[in-house]
Amino acid sequence: MILYFSGTGNNLAVARAIAEHTGESVQPLYNALNINLLQEKRIGFVYPCYNGDVPKVVPHWIEQLNLPQQAYYFIVIASGLQAGNAIWSVEQVLNKKGIQLNYCHKIRVPDNSALAFGRNPNDQQWKFQRFAARLEQIKKDIASEKNAHHYGWRDPLASLMKLFDKTVFNALQPAVNAQKCIGCGICAKVCAVQNIALVTDEAGNKIAQHGQQCEFCLACVHFCPQQAVELSHKPTQKDFQYHHPNVMLKDLIVTNDKMK
Ligand SMILES: Cc1cc2nc3c(=O)[nH]c(=O)nc-3n(C[C@H](O)[C@H](O)[C@H](O)COP(=O)(O)O)c2cc1C
Repeated sequence: MILYFSGTGNNLAVARAIAEHTGESVQPLYNALNINLLQEKRIGFVYPCYNGDVPKVVPHWIEQLNLPQQAYYFIVIASGLQAGNAIWSVEQVLNKKGIQLNYCHKIRVPDNSALAFGRNPNDQQWKFQRFAARLEQIKKDIASEKNAHHYGWRDPLASLMKLFDKTVFNALQPAVNAQKCIGCGICAKVCAVQNIALVTDEAGNKIAQHGQQCEFCLACVHFCPQQAVELSHKPTQKDFQYHHPNVMLKDLIVTNDKMK
């Protein structure tokens, strides 16, 4: 069983690639509480790195899972550059449950936060070619249940990055431009933490509105057909919207019951 967290599809694509090789099934992490995992022989977690660490909801969800003690456990991070503490933090959660991590690795993919900083994630697609060999290796390693830790150590640079959490996450805070929003609700459908609601404005039009639980996955920004979801109130350029080329909007629409 591979459990993933993904806003723009990079981690879903990696989870699927591993699963094709190992015959595993793939499920969104938000749905994992609804699955009986106790009979699983191999459990993987695939998720991104956000500001040098794991998206906050990921360890929160994993803490709640009833996991088997005797299984092969792995973590793979698909991030723009680094794993930071994203593996280490989740390994702590697993260890508290008496579970040992068998294998971890990271792979570089286009950085979906780049549009906040004026770089186009679509210009980074070279990463798929450059790191294809690593993905092949990861698939083989996991299929053969190799024991190896790559990038699983506590990263002092990532710990320093924590000091800038507020600055970074403020820059990546999505908000809806009411002038552009047509109330289609796509942003609400791709939000894995149900942080977006459709409300009626004074003129009687439906518009999307973010709540306070944002995980910063940026799915709402990248999938809005009107480019109405903006970061720091800067216009979102269509060319800068990104999703993994093999993962479509329909793949990321939240369909199952979510954990709170
Ligand atoms: C809020 C935020 C913070 C990020 N911080 C980092 C980071 O510190 N290091 C890094 O290598 N990539 C970082 N990224 C890039 C993502 O890890 C990367 O694009 C990832 O593949 C996105 O996964 P997804 O497409 O499955 O949502 C960040 C992305 C977001 C949205």
